[in-house]
Amino acid sequence: MATWSAPGKVFLFGEHAVVYGKPGIAMAIKPRVFVTVRKTRRPQRAKSPYIDGCFDAMGVIGSVYINSQIPSSSGLGSSAAVTVATLSAINDEFSVGKSREDIANMAFEIEKTVQKGRASPTDTTVSAFGGIVLITGGSRRRLPPQSLHLVIGDSMVSHSTSKMVEQVADLKKSNPKIVDPILDAIEGVSLAAIHHLSNPKELGRYMNMNHALLDALGVGNPQLSRLVLAARSAGAFGAKITGAGGGGCMVALCAKPILHRVAHAIQACDARAIVTGIDTEGVRKEKNV
Ligand code: PMV
Repeated sequence: MATWSAPGKVFLFGEHAVVYGKPGIAMAIKPRVFVTVRKTRRPQRAKSPYIDGCFDAMGVIGSVYINSQIPSSSGLGSSAAVTVATLSAINDEFSVGKSREDIANMAFEIEKTVQKGRASPTDTTVSAFGGIVLITGGSRRRLPPQSLHLVIGDSMVSHSTSKMVEQVADLKKSNPKIVDPILDAIEGVSLAAIHHLSNPKELGRYMNMNHALLDALGVGNPQLSRLVLAARSAGAFGAKITGAGGGGCMVALCAKPILHRVAHAIQACDARAIVTGIDTEGVRKEKNV
């Protein structure tokens, strides 16, 4: 029996633009998914296509038990975390000998297959390696870790990443003269933000700019806007949609002493708040229980 866990993630900058080869900056966060894999004689199909994909990719058969701290379908990378942790647990239980890099690459291929080609390697990379990662086209680079204090607001409005990606693609096709400059501006924000990762006040300003540009791309939502404004009014340095938008989550960057004030402001808008920070470990082995 082998138990491994992997963290969720937030997009700090560049979601949607990253689909068009622009830079994206994402950070691993504390909530994790825990996966236990056990060798079994009888084949057992899991209910999740991600888990089936992991066993198929590794060419083995086993049973799996999942315990998640990450709300699913909310843009916090729960499917990537499940995939990365499951592959790692299989790798360990069956002594397959894959590296962390291999696991990240395999997890990306599985996500791509399940999501019908609509996935960037962001979630799987961040979940496998932890920390802050800059994704540009096919390349990924770890940026220096920062102790950023975040409050995530889960709007609890359901959304579909693939639908939102498609919506942006349609808008880009019908209005390239409007959408292309917005994507360029998001790129500009992400590139500027890289130089201010250790300055939360400045970083917050860039998050606000990124939020406005995401709104202009049409991936906003009234409840997300409410949460973003509530967090800013409560004193956050900045707040924005995180992930695909249309529902799902927003993220606010705060000074440590006001984290709970911002969380309460978000809860007062009928949303769930998660106070969190950076995870620097990525996927890790847990003690078997
Ligand atoms: O909602 P999430 O966390 O799956 O983020 C989607 C981010 C997009 O840039 C819209 C798509 C992608 O695969 O990067």
